[in-house]
Amino acid sequence: MHLITLSPWSETDILEIVEDSLNMKRYPEKYRHAVGGKSLCLLFQKTSTRTRCAGEIGITQLGGHAHYLDWRTTNFALADLGDEMRVLSAYVDIILARFLKNDELVTAATPATVPIINGCCDKYHPTQALGDLMTIQEHFGRLEGIKLCFIGVHNNVCNSLIAAGMKVGIEVTVVAPEVNPAAIDKKLWDAAAQKGCYKTLDTDTIDIGDALGQIIAESDVVYTDTWLDMEFFEDPAFAEERKRRLKQMMPYQLNSELLRGHDCKIMHCLPAHHGYEIAGELVNDERSIIFEQSENRLHSMKAVFLKLLAQA
Ligand code: CP
Ligand code: NVA
Repeated sequence: MHLITLSPWSETDILEIVEDSLNMKRYPEKYRHAVGGKSLCLLFQKTSTRTRCAGEIGITQLGGHAHYLDWRTTNFALADLGDEMRVLSAYVDIILARFLKNDELVTAATPATVPIINGCCDKYHPTQALGDLMTIQEHFGRLEGIKLCFIGVHNNVCNSLIAAGMKVGIEVTVVAPEVNPAAIDKKLWDAAAQKGCYKTLDTDTIDIGDALGQIIAESDVVYTDTWLDMEFFEDPAFAEERKRRLKQMMPYQLNSELLRGHDCKIMHCLPAHHGYEIAGELVNDERSIIFEQSENRLHSMKAVFLKLLAQA
């Protein structure tokens, strides 16, 4: 069993991860030797703080071992992908992979003979969404019926929130004047919409000031993420597009004025760009559960390892 996207996972699979994550947070000692002797490889094409640390530290806390590979320093950069994945599968028991492109990740998973976990590609970020469900469960004591509003650019994180949310009954409303081209997934959106778990506001036809206030008032959680995925933020070839996006997206910034009088929780997967998608003061606002979210990446990653290794 791989975790490339949450779509093939059942409600039971997802709820099991949420429950195990909470138990691992409460009783870490019980899990000290849960995957004794197993090895994890982290194969990363992009930078990371949370996903990398959750992987390396998580497997260590479970009694296993982590090995980090920066793609650019390996022969993955020049060899046949299938050959290299077969080789890696023979060395380790599970692989956490952060690839630029979802297509390449899917191709890599086919010859792999051990479970592959998507550590964030251009289309999905499933381990982020699992950690987020854990955080929502911790704060609200339930998942079903929670109303989550995603304000920003419709991206990988947004897709995984939709994919996870539709399995457990979270209603996701997206307010996004832009969709990252790589994140277009009509099949997912249609399936979630049919279940009544996803809708998007048409930002061309509404008064955005009024609409944002109204949707935030109806939401338990307001979630945002970067307007530009990490691989583009510093890319000189993307400089013009970056300028255009930042200008277009400023009316959608989460800030104190927009959230005044609302008692919703504020979420962000991090890394945050203070002053862009979120004003710095909101990151530390009393409604913010952003740092619980990031801590929970560790516990939920451990639950994912345990599940996939048990089934392998
Ligand atoms: N949220 C998240 O995945 O963070 P990193 O990119 O630092 O891993
Ligand atoms: N959408 C962001 C998520 C980072 C965890 C990105 O891909 O950079």
